[in-house]
Amino acid sequence: MSEKMTAAAGSVGNGGVLHIDGARLHARLEALAEEGATEGGGCGRLALTDEDRAGRDLVVTWMQDLGLDVHVDAMGNVVARYGDSDLAPVMMGSHIDTVARGGRYDGNLGVLAGLEVIETLIAAHVKPQRSLAVAFFTNEEGARFAPDMLGSLTYVGGLPLEEALDITCSGGASVGAELRRIGYAGPHPCPGPVPHAYVELHIEQGPVLEAAGTDIGVVEGVQGISWQELVVEGQANHAGTTPMAMRHDAGYAAAALAAFVRELALELGPPQVGTVGSLNLHPDLVNVVASQARLTVDLRNTDEAVLRHAEDRLATYVEALAEREGVRISSRPLARFAPVTFDPGIVGLVEETARRMGHTTLRLPSGAGHDAQMLARVCPSGMVFVPSVAGISHNPAEYTSPGAITAGADVLLHVVLALAGEDSSIDTPGHASGQVSR
Ligand code: GLV
Ligand code: MN
Ligand code: MN
Repeated sequence: MSEKMTAAAGSVGNGGVLHIDGARLHARLEALAEEGATEGGGCGRLALTDEDRAGRDLVVTWMQDLGLDVHVDAMGNVVARYGDSDLAPVMMGSHIDTVARGGRYDGNLGVLAGLEVIETLIAAHVKPQRSLAVAFFTNEEGARFAPDMLGSLTYVGGLPLEEALDITCSGGASVGAELRRIGYAGPHPCPGPVPHAYVELHIEQGPVLEAAGTDIGVVEGVQGISWQELVVEGQANHAGTTPMAMRHDAGYAAAALAAFVRELALELGPPQVGTVGSLNLHPDLVNVVASQARLTVDLRNTDEAVLRHAEDRLATYVEALAEREGVRISSRPLARFAPVTFDPGIVGLVEETARRMGHTTLRLPSGAGHDAQMLARVCPSGMVFVPSVAGISHNPAEYTSPGAITAGADVLLHVVLALAGEDSSIDTPGHASGQVSR
């Protein structure tokens, strides 16, 4: 990483290149992590819970303190705008909901870095030709309400608002009722206004950048995602008296399904992945053959045809297993998104900007789902990745160094300046710097 990128900032640094203020960004990340803080330094802010409300309130306060025009739409998506141009804005953003025991960077970084970019420009009296916007979208994680990326999906018109509001969590509460309960059923319409472009900074959440010793990930697209819930109906019976050959064991069927998902992914090979992340048995007792199992399957691949093949193989296995074990197995789709390719112009701009700032770069697909893949349906979109230490995410141990975060946010700053029609004149390391235009 170049000297210039780690220099203190929020200012025009050595040689006239504008930098974000890494310390200010870090302080906001720390403060937001206090809302829903969990043991081990993580965060638990499942979508539309009280913890999510507290996180939302804090970020909205920061937006208002900067004098931004803050809109909350009918899906609870929050968009803050800087500038008074009538042109469609360049949007940054991500999400601030987390999985139940998640980290402090996933999503939060993209939102707070967007806010930091705007504060940097305000402090430097730079008002780009196009307005800038920073957004956080409702229920990106999909951990409480399926599908994932629900707020951004609805924002781009991919799901009718009424359908999205009617989705319920396992406890029975609906998105609409929870939005009203926490005060985020906003007055602005959803689908929302189409931005000129969308750029999201995110931690990689995987091991690739760290292993390659690379500063900045240039994200070419997002792999396809297939989620389903399987329910196995067997027969409860006595664990001591029921001969093995006479069982209709939902617990066994669930275990066989979990093993099959893993073996299938291994057989198809990378980038195919398969996960059974949730498994519940009923009645869940030591001496009773389980009568019911409820499990989720997450299959992902960058290749739509292979992903479909994996789904078909699972369906065939489900049928054969049900027949063999004398159980009923039903399946309910939870989420299905095809792989997404980001706008080549934005991918190239991210790469070129990062390199001109002295960073090493690597092009890669995203293994995780992101709001950017929904925005890509309506406007040129792209993403910037920064390395995740040990590739750990959806875990309180998730970590990205302050230097890496600052580097990523600086790249975001100069990418959005270019998209907003400003010549941010990033100098090549070792050469004389240009000036940010005013
Ligand atoms: C969202 O974090 C996902 O599951 O990819
Ligand atoms: Mn995320
Ligand atoms: Mn996540």
